Amino acid sequence: MSDNRSSISEITPYIYGTTRLGDDKIPREQRLKTAYAAMESGVWFHTARMYGDALEVLGETFRNKQNNIPKIIIKMGWENIPQLRESILENINPLGIDGVQLGQLCLSGGLEQDFANGGNCFKVFEELKNEGLVKGFVVEVFPWTSDAPLKALRAGYLEGIIDGFIFYLNPLQRFAANELWNEIATRNYPVIAMRTVSGGPVHSLRDIPGFAWKDYLQKRAVEMAPIFERSGIKNWTEFCMRFAHSFPMVKATVGSSSKIENLNQFLKAKENIKILPSDILDEISSLQKRWSDETDIKAERWSM
Ligand SMILES: NC(=O)c1ccc[n+]([C@@H]2O[C@H](COP(=O)([O-])OP(=O)(O)OC[C@H]3O[C@@H](n4cnc5c(N)ncnc54)[C@H](OP(=O)(O)O)[C@@H]3O)[C@@H](O)[C@H]2O)c1
Repeated sequence: MSDNRSSISEITPYIYGTTRLGDDKIPREQRLKTAYAAMESGVWFHTARMYGDALEVLGETFRNKQNNIPKIIIKMGWENIPQLRESILENINPLGIDGVQLGQLCLSGGLEQDFANGGNCFKVFEELKNEGLVKGFVVEVFPWTSDAPLKALRAGYLEGIIDGFIFYLNPLQRFAANELWNEIATRNYPVIAMRTVSGGPVHSLRDIPGFAWKDYLQKRAVEMAPIFERSGIKNWTEFCMRFAHSFPMVKATVGSSSKIENLNQFLKAKENIKILPSDILDEISSLQKRWSDETDIKAERWSM
């Protein structure tokens, strides 16, 4: 399929993720300052109602800098068709905007089944687009939700309406199960990678107790650190940006920070991105293939 879908053709290779803007342990002034800096840079944003008061922080910055409002991806879904519209409205109302660039479809229950079977949800996707509430859609994938998108992809239901997939894709996580990942790669179907730096520097994930939010990430960091060191790349953010963009179907990677200096690392890393050397990429890819089969697809929903 073509990468030139209008809704993603101008996507920025780095997208500012806004989870950290909703963390009320961080002074609001600091969060506002980082949001303004990200807006100034011109990158796209990713946000959701579940990120604390991130939408309200953004609403304030958008009101004050109307010329710098970014293109936005929001999470929407969930279990039934009426919720599709409701979930858009609960984002755009606090943001103070009329519509968004991309809706990230987070599907479960009856809606997930309807999607797998090419059902009525596809008509509603068209309606929401025609009304200008969204310009396009990407579908979210987890290891435990890979079957429905795979079925829909193979049946051809996604063509012309779903512009890509979005999932955790970073050196420590690749959340499309192996079969779906292979199908996406073969078709060169666009992907938005999430969690650029896997939550933080690999040595912190490996060495600082509790830094990794789950044990499996600490264990994966033990395996990843020597590969990172052997690459000769000094900066973990650069390594991760290059990792995501080493896959031809990856169009962007979403990373978050509450701090200007860390945001600046993402912004620097997005300039002149070089793909990783093939031996490093192959080694990470085989780890991810193993992790997917050994752990990810057996995991309880939402446990990782
Ligand atoms: N299901 C979903 O839709 C879903 C799930 C997860 C994430 N996401 C999206 O993806 C975005 C990124 O995910 P994420 O925040 O989980 O992962 P991430 O971007 O890989 O990691 C962000 C964490 O790393 C820290 N960090 C960033 N750069 C750093 C640096 N140079 N040095 C040290 N620490 C650094 C940040 O802390 P500081 O604030 O201290 O810099 C923050 O704690 C989210 O904001 C969200 O938009 C979506």
